[in-house]
Amino acid sequence: MQIVPMTASFGAKVTDIDLRAPASEEWHQLEDAFLHFAVLIFPRVDFSEDDHLGFARRWGPLERTLSKRTDRAEISLLSNVTRDDEVAGPDDTIGLYLKGNRAWHTDSSFKKEGAMASILRAVEVPSSGGDTEFADMRAAYDALDEAERRDLSKLEAVHSYAYSQGLVGGTELLDSKEWDDLPPVTHPVVRQHPRTGRKNLYIGRHISHIVDMDEEDGRRLVAGLVDRACRSPRTFRHRWSAGDIVMWDNRCVLHRGHEWPFDQRRVMRRATVAGQGDNPWALEEVSHA
Ligand code: OGA
Ligand code: MN
Repeated sequence: MQIVPMTASFGAKVTDIDLRAPASEEWHQLEDAFLHFAVLIFPRVDFSEDDHLGFARRWGPLERTLSKRTDRAEISLLSNVTRDDEVAGPDDTIGLYLKGNRAWHTDSSFKKEGAMASILRAVEVPSSGGDTEFADMRAAYDALDEAERRDLSKLEAVHSYAYSQGLVGGTELLDSKEWDDLPPVTHPVVRQHPRTGRKNLYIGRHISHIVDMDEEDGRRLVAGLVDRACRSPRTFRHRWSAGDIVMWDNRCVLHRGHEWPFDQRRVMRRATVAGQGDNPWALEEVSHA
């Protein structure tokens, strides 16, 4: 297995491993790499959907997806192509829904247990644009001074999907039962990674406000923090080729999608490893393949 770091603090390109049937020693190395680098890029592995789901389930139970657009519960569909195989317009429901991903976020932070990992597969990519960018929130925390760390570690943030998706639209893609299942939740702004013990900033677009703070003041604080956190040298962009798999640790990195010419097809399918703990969104089936 070859592991080539992307930046000084995080991200790595991984090659020369059979992801469909890793040897146990390789698997341990891969787990260590995931915890250390937090974003793993597997260029052109050309997974089938079964390969993708098989690989994802090795990391733990998958999260049930939200949008009623999807064709299966384990897959979040990030695609501008409609069921009729047409390209959706930017202001169509699908276009608006996808637009939300252009703001820095971490997946499912609006759930009681945010997602552990997201594993994204590029099926069809545009000829330009559509990069996904990542930012290391451990390095962002490390870059704060002592007083800021202390002040921020006292804060709790309310994350609300109704708030974040409401800002951009496309909310019709969830039915009313789904909205009922997604009340606002609270997470600390500074969290400790359960596996590495490293502290990080758990922030992003799903935060609607800070507990016990004026709403607008809280939003300004979070926007300023995201802006400072998501800067060089703590970021990198992945330029997709069809067949790529990228996996990231939602417990300590933020990501966002970049624009592409919207008349071009972009089809990405995501398996999401459920957050641990009492998680009603975790699907039962676990493969031990
Ligand atoms: C995601 C996501 C951005 C993109 O898959 O969770 O936010 O570039 N993707 O598609
Ligand atoms: Mn996302």
